Amino acid sequence: MADMMWAGRFSKQVDENVNAFNSSIAFDGRMYRHDIQGSIAHATMLGDCGIITKEDSLQIIGGLKEILADIESGDLQLDPSAEDIHMFVEAELTKRLGDVGKRLHTSRSRNDQVAVDLRLYLRDEIAEISELVKTLIETIISIAKEHTETVMPGYTHLQRAQPITLAHHLMAYVQMLFRDLERLGDTAKRMNYCPLGCGALAGTTYKTNRQQTSDLLGFTAPMENSLDGVSDRDYCVELNCALSLLMTHLSRFSEEIIMWCSWEFKFIELDDAFATGSSIMPQKKNPDITELIRGKTGRVNGNLVTLLTMMKGLPLAYNKDMQEDKEAIFDTVDNVKLCVRTFTPMLATMRVLKDNMRNAAAKGFINATDCADYLVKKGMPFRDAYKITGTLVAECIEKGVTLETLPIEEYRKMTELFTEDVYDAIDLSACVKERKSYGGPSPDAVKVQIENAELKLKGQI
Ligand code: ARG
Repeated sequence: MADMMWAGRFSKQVDENVNAFNSSIAFDGRMYRHDIQGSIAHATMLGDCGIITKEDSLQIIGGLKEILADIESGDLQLDPSAEDIHMFVEAELTKRLGDVGKRLHTSRSRNDQVAVDLRLYLRDEIAEISELVKTLIETIISIAKEHTETVMPGYTHLQRAQPITLAHHLMAYVQMLFRDLERLGDTAKRMNYCPLGCGALAGTTYKTNRQQTSDLLGFTAPMENSLDGVSDRDYCVELNCALSLLMTHLSRFSEEIIMWCSWEFKFIELDDAFATGSSIMPQKKNPDITELIRGKTGRVNGNLVTLLTMMKGLPLAYNKDMQEDKEAIFDTVDNVKLCVRTFTPMLATMRVLKDNMRNAAAKGFINATDCADYLVKKGMPFRDAYKITGTLVAECIEKGVTLETLPIEEYRKMTELFTEDVYDAIDLSACVKERKSYGGPSPDAVKVQIENAELKLKGQI
């Protein structure tokens, strides 16, 4: 085993198991680009401030760029026995440049280095996830546009409740996803402060320029307190929290899709490319994708608990416990991306079985509220209208008919206020069209929601 960079103080080599136990390169290796990006900014600043010579600075930057190119081309493999990505890049630089390479770590610690790498890495991930969520929103909107008149039952307690449209239902998810986007944006904004230059914990005696490294790396500003700079992992927790909510939304949507493609509902049919079969039951077509999304939500929530629990007892400043942050947050971002990437085309290709939705809406007396409202509009107090309608529903159930097919004489036995026009008032399409209140399911009201969502996507509101 090669000597550790910190070997000076030690009289023995590290036990092999300890080395493997301690090493994080297996999972932080993915930050190589961000590590090099941070190091280039640091070397530039060291050169500009005269802490190292300009020539050394330029040589270091050139060396780092070559290492980056070699990793990307596959010419340079990450060494799995290295302690972490930071040590690996620095050792490689020194291998290539000799003593000049050893100057890079002047006035820097791995504690501020890892903090800056992780912020840079997650900033990119947030941008990527946000784009995926935007595409999902666009997909939902385009389905909604086709279904502003597709009547379906709205549910409470999973009991048919009142008539809505598929578009109205879908646009509810668009609202949730917009909040997710906003939360991701907020997290990115709060995360965008630069810990580089905080050193191990107590800053540095060199005359550094933290503003410069912060600017070079596109941060809003350097972090104000060096202890906080190296100890803070709020951004991991916040990001995981935002993504737990995103997954919660996808999971609820998934649960509905699972129900909707059951024989009991049969509201939709998934495309063959986005469903799976059974090894024994030839008739099966299973919604595995949505079930996996529901399952992976538990895993993402687990990562949130990992991060919160990892942090809750840590004294300032850096503690090695914090190395555990990466596996948790990386697992979260990886799985969220997988889920959104799979969910979007599955949704785009599913077939909507409008007639089945409509038939379900026609059963279950979901126009009963409208029947009561009809009487209210004719002057009856709501509670009395409610009671009369309830009695009529009971009568329908007994006779095996619906409110639409119950003869007018039966209505008029309850009150003379009922006339033939009651059938217009309880017609399902009419019931939906009349629900024009702001945010409601009427085609016009949903069109407003769609228009606003499109403007929001374009950043116009
Ligand atoms: N691999 C470490 C991590 O991920 C880097 C920081 C190490 N700092 C230290 N003082 N040992 O947290």
